[in-house]
Amino acid sequence: MNEPNQTPEPGRRGFLVKSAAVGLGAAAGIGPALAGLRVILDPLRRESGGSGASLLVARLGSLPADGVPRRFQVLADRVDAWNTYKNIPVGAVYLRRTADNKVTALNASCPHAGCSVSFAGDKGQFICPCHDSLFTVEGGIANASSPSPRALDALDVEVRNETEVWVKFRNYQPGHKEQIPVT
Ligand code: FES
Repeated sequence: MNEPNQTPEPGRRGFLVKSAAVGLGAAAGIGPALAGLRVILDPLRRESGGSGASLLVARLGSLPADGVPRRFQVLADRVDAWNTYKNIPVGAVYLRRTADNKVTALNASCPHAGCSVSFAGDKGQFICPCHDSLFTVEGGIANASSPSPRALDALDVEVRNETEVWVKFRNYQPGHKEQIPVT
């Protein structure tokens, strides 16, 4: 057995040197490996379209003047490093005309678990068929027992050229009280 200040015997010293070299080599390789993985995965994370982009969703004339919400599918182009996909469904919205030139938009996805809500004209409310959340026509929670942690997600709308309804479409993660955008 070596004393504290005693130099390790050659065999043991060689083993320690080799172990240290292997450890340093592995540590040095992790950085480039992670960088490479990011490059490979990055194009998948750079999908575009439908995430905060302004999209033409409807013509103003297709919205009832009485303020009853109407559902529209939202289509967007998606681009990754390898392909462009045209007119892919990315969600749905309810548009409501609240004045001649004024429109509101709600994401049709229930904030509880993402089921698609429908508008019950006779009740004047949105209903989620999955777990019975109810929402007012403005999107607020309408029943105290609602499992939805937040109101329907309102989206920015712009009427362009007096006829086109553009929506800044975004999906939000279900199950949270606060809005967390899906990226
Ligand atoms: S998904 Fe809508 S109430 Fe559960």
